[in-house]
Amino acid sequence: MFRGVSRAARKPGLQPGTIRMDYYDKVEEAAALIRRETPPPDVAVVLGSGLGAFATTLQDATAWSYADLPHWPASHVIGHEGRLVVGTLAGRRVSALSGRAHFYEGHDLRTVTFATRVMGRLGAKALILTNAAGGINVKLTPGTLMVMDDHINLLGSNPLVGPNEDRFGLRFPDMSTVYSPRLRALADDVAAAQGLPIGHGVYVAVHGPSYETPAEIRFLRTIGADAVGMSTVPEAIAARHMGIEVLGISCITNAAAGVLPKPLNHDEVMEVARQVRGRFAALLEGIIGRL
Ligand code: HPA
Repeated sequence: MFRGVSRAARKPGLQPGTIRMDYYDKVEEAAALIRRETPPPDVAVVLGSGLGAFATTLQDATAWSYADLPHWPASHVIGHEGRLVVGTLAGRRVSALSGRAHFYEGHDLRTVTFATRVMGRLGAKALILTNAAGGINVKLTPGTLMVMDDHINLLGSNPLVGPNEDRFGLRFPDMSTVYSPRLRALADDVAAAQGLPIGHGVYVAVHGPSYETPAEIRFLRTIGADAVGMSTVPEAIAARHMGIEVLGISCITNAAAGVLPKPLNHDEVMEVARQVRGRFAALLEGIIGRL
């Protein structure tokens, strides 16, 4: 009765003959399209708010709008472009993702991590995650770049919720060193060589999209967070699930709520990210060249 119908279509609740692709097959389909059109990347970079310009530094580039990639989630945030570029930089095959899907847009975390899964299936060995974040630690002033030493997931969910896909990784993956000590040290070396001051800290991911209250920021400081943002952690978890080495770098775009007596707004976040993007791009290129 089910001959010729995929395993996914035999799941309870589906009519016989109905084909529903499972998540893994969707990831593979997107990866197959990219693989057909360009040599795959060894390094993937996800560009946070205002940092998309880095993608233009790739040479011999092939680019896709997210809308042209099968099953790829759209990102509708201002300052996020929605483009995948794969090309060459500093002698490496690199993919740059300008724009990501966020939990606060209403996507579930498997959708949020779709692009990470595709990069993993394409064979990327390292994933560099960048973001804009609010500085909780007063040493992290706007314009500072912060290497993520660890994270706290306060999203209230996890991208690995649901049946485990063994072809990606283990049911209970270790998260003792999400952010590669080797890549964190490399980021420090490259920043020092470029004369770029760089911070370190713990990033806490919150759901958003509203910014935090001052009381929430006091709480987040108490539990050990240095910077706060609304992304990155799902991708880092999914990447570690697949055994990909992860580096996270936050651009501190504002003092977190209540740190300074002034309100927060997205325009300020974008403006600071724009001011920093040249330094950020140079740091990324330096890191990629020495991976
Ligand atoms: N809070 C949460 N997310 C952010 C912030 C912030 O202050 N700044 C940039 N992204």
